[in-house]
Amino acid sequence: MNDLNSRHLLTLEGLSAQRIHAILDRAEALRDLTATSKRNLDILEGRNIVQLFFEPSTRTRVSFELAAKKLGANVINFDCAGSSVVKGESLLDTVHTLEAMQSDALIMRHQQDGMAQYVAENLRSPCAVINAGDGRHAHPTQGLLDALTIRRHFADFSRLCVLICGDILHSRVARSDIHVLRTLGVRELRLCAPQALLPETNEQNAFKVYTDFDKALADVDVVIMLRLQKERMQSALIPSSDHYFQSYGLTEERLARAKPHCIVMHPGPINREVEIASKVADGPRSVILEQVQNGVFVRMAVLSDLLKVS
Ligand code: CP
Repeated sequence: MNDLNSRHLLTLEGLSAQRIHAILDRAEALRDLTATSKRNLDILEGRNIVQLFFEPSTRTRVSFELAAKKLGANVINFDCAGSSVVKGESLLDTVHTLEAMQSDALIMRHQQDGMAQYVAENLRSPCAVINAGDGRHAHPTQGLLDALTIRRHFADFSRLCVLICGDILHSRVARSDIHVLRTLGVRELRLCAPQALLPETNEQNAFKVYTDFDKALADVDVVIMLRLQKERMQSALIPSSDHYFQSYGLTEERLARAKPHCIVMHPGPINREVEIASKVADGPRSVILEQVQNGVFVRMAVLSDLLKVS
């Protein structure tokens, strides 16, 4: 792990399997600790955590806020639209202003790749930066919560065949999931999308590429569906949502090709009847809301780990 990523959480690249399992173990311990009482812990008492979201979010923003509050921290939700950013204040001037107010951590989502790293490199205090999603680059806590969700269902990653299907080209979730799943040693990793939505590179043959969803689903243990990110598409890369659903929508009939114990994941928000049928999203194999729950505990683990409290 590089030095920058040991003080901050910018990407899952460089994190060892041992470190990832330690974060997941801590998430499990925090789940147990909070299960018996509704009272907040005092692990981060007196710490100031600022949420700086330049892109919309439901799951990540709310679960980070809950996580920080459950640990006893003060949480400030920076309202970009009502801030001096609209008067033209730069990102770094905004960050330095928040640092001057003794922020201990900045949780940041930004539409541009690499922005969390840029902020981390230009801090003037020991504040930690947590990347809550930067452009198409990375969404490290989503990767961790996805790993935790899979680990809770299957003890041994080395036996698993995992399929990621959908708009992989624009997906920071896919990038973080690929890193975490490879590091944890899944037996086989498959990616499936229409040609126009496949990733541009496949370094070290990290995964098997499919354009036929029915073939890709054969005998998989885990399928991770991704949202079509029309907001990141420069031009129409698919003919229509209906056409996409016919070829790449996960239906009950298609899911029958996977192993009987296969779990269905999706980082959310979901486009019903575009990438996933409601009967599957709400069905017995879906663990989508488990992912949401696990997100709170993973984010508690990350915050307590980075803010160096035991
Ligand atoms: N999975 C995810 O990042 O969801 P939000 O955009 O709602 O935070």
